[in-house]
Amino acid sequence: MKLTVNGETRDLDIEPDTPLLWAIREELELQGTKYGCGIGMCGACTVMIDGVATRSCVTPVDGLESAEITTIEAIETDPVGARVVEAWVKHEVAQCGYCQSGQVMATVAMLRENPRATAEDAAYAISNLCRCGTYNAIDAALADLTS
Ligand code: FES
Repeated sequence: MKLTVNGETRDLDIEPDTPLLWAIREELELQGTKYGCGIGMCGACTVMIDGVATRSCVTPVDGLESAEITTIEAIETDPVGARVVEAWVKHEVAQCGYCQSGQVMATVAMLRENPRATAEDAAYAISNLCRCGTYNAIDAALADLTS
């Protein structure tokens, strides 16, 4: 089957029920998308499918042949993504960094959908977990990015 990830279409020899996460990490060797819980709860595996934040560990590749999939590796080519990364760096959000690609992807998707999002909107839209507890730094970065 074909998958288009970060603007590049590749032919992959995978089963239709393969989780998108493993197609990205194992087949395409894009390691920025992380495996956390594997059950759609933590958000470490968040990517964008047609601009929508999606937990790739519970999303089979079946039906994604015409979708545009974006991972953290391409996020700085997006103007909103570049702004989010800048805010993340400014506020030194990352500690261990494991969850950060998912946090950034969820934030970019929210801001693309709602450029005038408030901090309260962000609190509802972003439910990614961070085991280091960097929530104060995440909130500071989100405060810069929201109206
Ligand atoms: Fe996908 Fe946790 S690894 S939500």
